[in-house]
Amino acid sequence: MQRPAPKSPIRPAIADLQANGIGLVSSLALGEPDVIALWFGESDLVTPAFIRDAAKKALDDGKTFYTNARGTFHLREAIKQFHKRTVETDLDLERITVPGAAMLAVIVALQCVVETGDNIVVVSPVWPNIFQAAEICGAEVRFARLEDDWKAATPHWRLDLDKLFAQCDARTKAIFVCSPGNPTGWIMPRNQQQDLLNFARKKNIAIISDEVYGTLVYDGRKHAPSFLEIAEENDDVFVINSFSKPWAMTGWRIGWLVHPKRLDTQMWMLAAANNTGATTFAQWGAIAALSAQGDAFRAEMLARCRVGRETVQKFLDAQNRIRWIRPDGAFYGFLHIDGMKDSLNFAKDLVRNARVGVAPGSAFGPAGDPNTDQFIRICFAQDSRRIKTGLERLGKAVSAL
Ligand SMILES: Cc1ncc(COP(=O)(O)O)c(C=O)c1O
Repeated sequence: MQRPAPKSPIRPAIADLQANGIGLVSSLALGEPDVIALWFGESDLVTPAFIRDAAKKALDDGKTFYTNARGTFHLREAIKQFHKRTVETDLDLERITVPGAAMLAVIVALQCVVETGDNIVVVSPVWPNIFQAAEICGAEVRFARLEDDWKAATPHWRLDLDKLFAQCDARTKAIFVCSPGNPTGWIMPRNQQQDLLNFARKKNIAIISDEVYGTLVYDGRKHAPSFLEIAEENDDVFVINSFSKPWAMTGWRIGWLVHPKRLDTQMWMLAAANNTGATTFAQWGAIAALSAQGDAFRAEMLARCRVGRETVQKFLDAQNRIRWIRPDGAFYGFLHIDGMKDSLNFAKDLVRNARVGVAPGSAFGPAGDPNTDQFIRICFAQDSRRIKTGLERLGKAVSAL
């Protein structure tokens, strides 16, 4: 006879949490030197020296104390100037908070709007940490899947806004959009942003716009269309940003949130309750990242990603079972593999046998979605020789399918 489960104070949303597919695959060979790891969203570059030096200097100068929980004045002012340069929007300083990493900024935004029993609509495919964070906050997650149109002259991802609107009801508290998207590289057009904002205003639904890849775009623009350009200062719009990607600072755990102005006091308390602010010396590194030298480094990073994207394109040109919708932004290849039905097991076998690490497509959407399961994701913000070797190994494994 089975023993009854012990009574437990653990919330069902926590008890039900499962490891996501990226974690399941990467844990098989994390750190093993013969594996070409393309599974995580980071470049292989170390943070540039001028940023590291700024953080070291801060430590040597004794900057080891608490700061304002919303981030130092200097950092928030530098963020304001960054937005002025990139999206030509002059934000009120009271709308900027640096709670810690962008992931924490996502959590803070969710904490503002979601209670257990509410739901949030997430444009997918999407990085799993996002919808798991919403589940942790007690939300039911609904997916509005981008449609992949392969038949068009230029294959592209398309968001059907009417289908997204149809997912919303009285308990919908937020719509989450990531543009440029992880894993698709899709960029949400301005007219759709405006339509979404109009709908959200009418229905009292918040928009959480993840713009951590905002400056990583390949058509020469300074920034992908941003909700910051169209939202009023008290719209329920939260824009997430991060130092992790453009400045190669994933390990620093620092990013920021632009939020409704009227929540300035609440943000102070939320930042205090979650982490009592971001790490002090990391904030000094972040200020250096936002300098002219940091802009030059961002340009180098974008150039590196452009080479990576071309390396993948060249490989795909010679393949007949692997294809992609060429990404317009971010630094991922979301590769469709004909004949692969179970991306998690494919990715596990790939790392065990071919020694190349990829993220399974199934991780980026609801369990059992057969469309997403035909994809794998690779990160191409890497040395192009490593990408090439990794792709050759992938090509052989796909031939053997
Ligand atoms: C879409 C998206 N949002 C947020 C983050 C997290 O950024 P951070 O490292 O600042 O927590 C990532 C990291 O992969 C991401 O892809």
